Amino acid sequence: MNPVPESPSLYPCGRPLLSFPEPLKLVILGATGSIGKQTLEIVRANPERLQVVAVSCRGRWQDLIQELDLLKTACPAFALPLVAITDPLARKEAHHSGNFGSRLLGEGSAALLEAVETPEDVHVVVNGVVGAAGLAPTLAAARRGVRIALANKESLVVGGDLVIREVFENGAEVLPVDSEHSAMAQCLSGRTQSEVHKLILTASGGPFRQTSAAEMENVNLAQVLNHPTWNMGPKVTVDSATLMNKGLEVIEAHYLFCVPYERIDVVVHPGSYIHSLVEFVDGALLAQLGTPDMKLPIQYAISGEKHWPLPGSRLDLLEIGQLVFEPPDRERFPCLELARLAGLAGGSATIALNGANEVAVAALLAGKIKYADIPRIIEEVLSSQPSLSVASLQDALAFDTQARRAAEALVARISTTAS
Ligand SMILES: NC(=O)c1ccc[n+]([C@@H]2O[C@H](COP(=O)([O-])OP(=O)(O)OC[C@H]3O[C@@H](n4cnc5c(N)ncnc54)[C@H](OP(=O)(O)O)[C@@H]3O)[C@@H](O)[C@H]2O)c1
Repeated sequence: MNPVPESPSLYPCGRPLLSFPEPLKLVILGATGSIGKQTLEIVRANPERLQVVAVSCRGRWQDLIQELDLLKTACPAFALPLVAITDPLARKEAHHSGNFGSRLLGEGSAALLEAVETPEDVHVVVNGVVGAAGLAPTLAAARRGVRIALANKESLVVGGDLVIREVFENGAEVLPVDSEHSAMAQCLSGRTQSEVHKLILTASGGPFRQTSAAEMENVNLAQVLNHPTWNMGPKVTVDSATLMNKGLEVIEAHYLFCVPYERIDVVVHPGSYIHSLVEFVDGALLAQLGTPDMKLPIQYAISGEKHWPLPGSRLDLLEIGQLVFEPPDRERFPCLELARLAGLAGGSATIALNGANEVAVAALLAGKIKYADIPRIIEEVLSSQPSLSVASLQDALAFDTQARRAAEALVARISTTAS
């Protein structure tokens, strides 16, 4: 086992990347989601470089069949991967359908771990699961000592210190998939951690950038889900509207690049052309620009930071004309500040933040609460839970359950009052 260094940047800044022979063998967790489907699209475009050995979903197993059919058509060396379906009822249906035969893994969330642990050879685990459910498989991938292409930011928000320990002790590496953190990684290529002064995360501002606080009290779900620049899964789209997504990304950046919170800034950049920036100790500011296409950061992480060809639209600087920046409005978007405060408090505070947010977002999507209730629920949960140290996955899961129960009680109270 290797020791954890004093300044543990999960992102291998200044350290050599792991090297694997092609085809790279991939486990894709959350294969039916927005990140998962785009990852499969990249595999189909690079069948000689990439091979899928395991996939997972929660319940949408029919979507998985469609995705695997597309893969079979595009990849001459296709072999049916191992399949993890975590929802028990859906797994039963999938089993009876006979589509996956002996490739179907066991029941419940343990199947996610099996998907990481069972294949004989694994080089890259793409974690495209949404929510805290992604933490345990991230830790399992770290224990396998492989490359983790991490989209599941909640892994670091809920278990950042645990992930650091497993990654360093087992010689794994984490390459970010989130476009902002990928942008920073691209700026950091060939640099060392001591050269970094500040990280600057850009935010589109979401659909309510110009909406008044009074109007935000009554926005409907369709307005919340109408993201101006990115097309993503429902949870991250809601998080983008509350700016909680940016708050979670600040915490993610803290763990990935080992930069203190005081040196992580957020700037609203409505066009989303600049995906993020790094300021170096000599004042040099490097940015990465591109169209809003997640395939670029996904491919950059999977490939081990190679710029492989990628068809698609290109950014036309003359068409853009100018780049616009604004400060974030922390009063209208309290989630951003709540996340920063939870990050500064450390320990179980970020678990409470995340658990309360997941419950509140699910309640909004189910029509039980209003958009404006989300920060109120999170704030109340955060102030009711002391920040305690987190020594293990069991601790993290216990704090997560505690926060969810507190948030569920608040949701029940709000929905009863409203009806
Ligand atoms: N989408 C983006 O462009 C984007 C960009 C940056 C970062 N991210 C991050 O990437 C992660 C995934 O986002 P997404 O937008 O791809 O989400 P998504 O479209 O909702 O997909 C989530 C995937 O995870 C599976 N899943 C959901 N809950 C699960 C659970 N409890 N246990 C196991 N599997 C579960 C889903 O299976 P079913 O389909 O069967 O429900 C689906 O395959 C999030 O952490 C998000 O913040 C996404």
